[in-house]
Amino acid sequence: MTARLRPLLDREKIQAMVEALAQRIQQDYQGKSPLIVGTLKGSFIFLADLVRRLDLPLEVDFVQVQSYAGTESSGRCRVVLPLSTPVRGRDVLVVEDIVDTGATLNCLMEYLKRKRPASLRLCAIFDKPSRRKVPVQIDYRGFELPDEFVVGYGLDCDQRYRHLPDLWALEEE
Ligand code: XMP
Ligand code: MG
Repeated sequence: MTARLRPLLDREKIQAMVEALAQRIQQDYQGKSPLIVGTLKGSFIFLADLVRRLDLPLEVDFVQVQSYAGTESSGRCRVVLPLSTPVRGRDVLVVEDIVDTGATLNCLMEYLKRKRPASLRLCAIFDKPSRRKVPVQIDYRGFELPDEFVVGYGLDCDQRYRHLPDLWALEEE
């Protein structure tokens, strides 16, 4: 079986959206020192683009969570790589690549809430709302995508394609 890539969003469009999101975050976090939490692995490129547009005394950390297949509504998940930064009292902004069913994000936000941050918000560059099973509040939302599997801009298929600067739909042939 071979896979075919169909262009969805080019790098200029993506960068314009990153800039728009960064401007909103820049305004909302004036006078604060947010802890930016990237979700591995998919968010690493978006996070790198986003934080370089923020003129704030921010810190960056990463977390990796896996949701259990088949128990999506229970919100159970496994923290594969925990944060190395204390979260209590911090203004935490989670940076995610894509929200799909919402299971992973719901679980991650609950995990972070238990650590008593001063505030907790979510920024996601891509959203597939038609796939949602668990409600998730996305405070800074980029592109709304149809129900298609996408790769590039950090997103993978079996760990491939993450480095592509544009976003592509992956079609099986
Ligand atoms: P849930 O369903 O928990 O899943 O919202 C979010 C995670 O699923 C992965 N995901 C994708 N990865 N192309 C990808 O490369 C996609 O179209 C896609 N949809 C979901 C991704 O890891 C995300 O964090
Ligand atoms: Mg992800």
